[in-house]
Amino acid sequence: MKNLWTRREVARLLGIAAVPSLLPVVAHAAAPGDDGFSSSFLWGSATASYQVEGAVHEGGRGPSIWDTFSHTPGKIANGDTGDVADDFYHRYRDDVQLMKRLGLQAFRFSVAWSRIFPSGSGQPLAQGLDFYKRLVTELKTNGIEPFCTLYHWDLPQALQDKGGWENPDTAHRLAEYEGYVAGELSRLGVKHFFTINEMRTFVELGYGNGTHAPGLKLTRKALAQVRHNVLLAHGLSVQAIRAKGSQGVQAGLCENVTVPVPVTLRSEDIQAAAIAIREENAGYLTAVFEGKYTERYLRELGDDAPHFTPDEMRAIGSPLDAVGLNIYTPTYVRSTAGGYEALPMPANFPRMASDWLKVGPECMYWGPKLVQEAWKPRAIYITENGCSAADQMTAQGEILDTDRIMYLRNCLGQMRKALNEGAGVKGYFVWSLLDNYEWADGYGKRFGVVYVDYQTQKRTPKLSAKFYSSVIASRGSGL
Ligand code: BG6
Repeated sequence: MKNLWTRREVARLLGIAAVPSLLPVVAHAAAPGDDGFSSSFLWGSATASYQVEGAVHEGGRGPSIWDTFSHTPGKIANGDTGDVADDFYHRYRDDVQLMKRLGLQAFRFSVAWSRIFPSGSGQPLAQGLDFYKRLVTELKTNGIEPFCTLYHWDLPQALQDKGGWENPDTAHRLAEYEGYVAGELSRLGVKHFFTINEMRTFVELGYGNGTHAPGLKLTRKALAQVRHNVLLAHGLSVQAIRAKGSQGVQAGLCENVTVPVPVTLRSEDIQAAAIAIREENAGYLTAVFEGKYTERYLRELGDDAPHFTPDEMRAIGSPLDAVGLNIYTPTYVRSTAGGYEALPMPANFPRMASDWLKVGPECMYWGPKLVQEAWKPRAIYITENGCSAADQMTAQGEILDTDRIMYLRNCLGQMRKALNEGAGVKGYFVWSLLDNYEWADGYGKRFGVVYVDYQTQKRTPKLSAKFYSSVIASRGSGL
């Protein structure tokens, strides 16, 4: 029997100051056995439209801000664009077979808004939706549960031309589009919808420091208003998905929650992490779960705080059926007189191939645990976790990515620890199935468990794919 003692019990036995009772043990469908994950726990992989589809001029698709940005000289490493990417638009049937061979039970994909509404609104394009209908049918026929993200950063360029996320009207256009697609796809049996992927990333990088599309560097005040507009778009979209979706439809969002990890096991540092989870996410997840901005968030923004109405905050706080957590890396915190301090990462902190991707698997324990305690969501999915690695193919045609296996193995072990202590995690999606277009890094960073040769589009499962398959087959009992 493994994990007989929880971390709390061990702390008590060691005589360390009692750790505050962060989590009541809650009963839930996916409660794991001591030796592994329950049979209802879902194992999947995630992708996003612009990162894999290619076929940017097919099926009547309109341009998105990522087409414009990736074609702007100097914006993307190596000048790479998503014009072809993994050619998933044409190869999805083979890729579904690949998922099946790996034993995947769920697949998270995103819909390109400008395939459905080429200029963002107006008449939907049947041909655009057909692609996703075929994909969903293929997944369901092969016993793979579709999880649909409705916005993964590819805003129709036509809407950016009208102000993009600076224009409050975009929130209403998103809700219209999401309601329409959720209505159509839920009739084909799609149950799980996520309104938006990682508000924080596309807002802060796209409108704050300009490294992602549309490449703007707004003032602090304008940026705070963009954050608010995006939150409202999410809330209105939750309502639209519920209004237009078939009975039983589940609405949520995916966010790269900042995960505070207490630097020590002292109760005050653990308490600091509990404060930090709300404050470090105040502009995003906290506002969604609580329907309000924290006092500290508004105080720190001062005159730059966004304009908002009570009705808007109520919409933003629309209850969720599920929250998707994209977790890659930790933020270490300690207790201070002001509550907490987030510590800078030392220069030699171990990392994967991307500079930002510091290796701290304990974020997969503290993330679900702190979210569960702070907001008691109805369900948690880990909608992304994974890493870049400098994959090389051997002369024998293998990719022996033991570094990625190390990362995944440790993350999964930590996630299981959170589950064993009552966090309601119901599924896990590795980022990513395939090497793909990694935004500003172009094709230079590989995150897939399957290697893609971009010249030939040949897929080769890496050693990490075999590892992941074995985890799924054994329900993680050997982790
Ligand atoms: C997440 C995104 O931020 O992390 C993915 O949802 C992205 O779309 C992944 O590909 C890796 O990030 P990056 O910036 O290194 O490509």
